[in-house]
Amino acid sequence: MPTPNDHPTRRVHVEINGQAVVRDVECRKHLTDFLREDCGLKGSHLGCEHGVCGACTVRVDGQVVRGCLVLAAQADGCRIETVETETPSPRLKALQDAFIEHNALQCGYCTPGMLMAALDLVERRPDANREEVRAWMSGNYCRCTGYHAIVDAVCAVLAQQSAGRFSDAAQREDTE
Ligand code: FES
Ligand code: FES
Repeated sequence: MPTPNDHPTRRVHVEINGQAVVRDVECRKHLTDFLREDCGLKGSHLGCEHGVCGACTVRVDGQVVRGCLVLAAQADGCRIETVETETPSPRLKALQDAFIEHNALQCGYCTPGMLMAALDLVERRPDANREEVRAWMSGNYCRCTGYHAIVDAVCAVLAQQSAGRFSDAAQREDTE
């Protein structure tokens, strides 16, 4: 006899940072809790938990999503990218380095989400100017830095990309 504390579960098959993962997950659990609690990937943070702050930003099948607004069960069969990937793309690594170099983080709480949003920008909008970077990143909130340094870091990586630093084929069609 089910009790009020019994929650239905569903088996999900996902690929997370290139690794196949199979888990039984509560149907009510969102993707960020799944990543953090069930998969031990604590890099995706939770701020507002209602789609506002961007701390939980990850990519699902190549699309940036708020992990707090996606149920883990909805991600069944999908490819998930988080900031923890053990083999970061050259662009993600360059962004991580640039954030450090430009002091684009203080407490670091927003940083994983910022990096994933920035990675998407660098891949999709290689010609973005400073204002476009600001607009793109405006969905990710930071309580510490005042944003200038974050924009500086992203612009630095865009400049590196324009100068031909990255030879891989990660640059993607802009689908928006
Ligand atoms: S925790 Fe998901 S948008 Fe704030
Ligand atoms: S570095 Fe603290 S919230 Fe962004």
